Amino acid sequence: MLTVTEAAMRSFATASDPRMGEVMALLVKHLHAFVAESKLTKEEWMRGLTFLTAAADITTEERNEFSLLSDVLGISSMVDVVSQPVGGTSSSVLGPFHNHDSQLQPNGVDLTKGQAGERTWLHGRVVDKNGKPVANAELDFWQNADNGLYPAQDSEQDPHNLRCKIHCEADGSFELLTIRPHPYTVPTDGPVGAMLAAAKRSIWRPAHYHVIVSAPGYVGLVTELFPAGSAYIDNDTVFGVREGLIVDFKPCQNAEVAKRYNLQEPFNEVQFEFCLVKN
Ligand code: BEZ
Ligand code: FE
Repeated sequence: MLTVTEAAMRSFATASDPRMGEVMALLVKHLHAFVAESKLTKEEWMRGLTFLTAAADITTEERNEFSLLSDVLGISSMVDVVSQPVGGTSSSVLGPFHNHDSQLQPNGVDLTKGQAGERTWLHGRVVDKNGKPVANAELDFWQNADNGLYPAQDSEQDPHNLRCKIHCEADGSFELLTIRPHPYTVPTDGPVGAMLAAAKRSIWRPAHYHVIVSAPGYVGLVTELFPAGSAYIDNDTVFGVREGLIVDFKPCQNAEVAKRYNLQEPFNEVQFEFCLVKN
């Protein structure tokens, strides 16, 4: 007779999509191994189901507790690690504050619009694995404001504050003026927050910019840039920090840039090359 695990795995052999069958059989295999190794009690499994039900209850179009769970368990980051094409810039978590309707702005846009925050000139290039410029790449950029909040969390902010899309130049170059981002906490008002509290885990993410880079013929890149020395950089509660994504915020005294953006010198300069991999 088959074991429970063998029978449950085999039950997916009939899947019309073979990949679905493979993934579900492996999921069953590892979940069963977890139950066996932890000697999970009935009460503990009931608590797990109650937790998942609470996550479902609080999930809406705007707020997905299961995405947050995936993030704080490191699963989002593991999927990034295993699905990442070799040789390009590392990917990192998308998070819940991306908006598909960001406005296309000219390359060089000034996103600061009189708000508080350390002026930061972010510039660089989009290149391929050989260092050749990728023409017509699009950057989708978003970050939090000087108070640590995204527009979705702060009704005082314009919904388009500190986010935009830009098209890079033919030589792959891009630039924009923004502010330094700040650390912030993941949402803690749901069951995931209660789990983090029970585990006495940090709820903080280090400061970061979010960037999605896309170009025809290349694998899209969802990534983040982290200021070197940011608080929580070694203890990101969603495990999104990668070595190559930590950037220096250098004091800059470029008179031409200062004049163009009407800046007091020195301002911050961040330079970064995004490397895309062909499809
Ligand atoms: C964020 O970076 O915005 C984020 C990522 C994961 C969970 C919560 C927030
Ligand atoms: Fe974020």
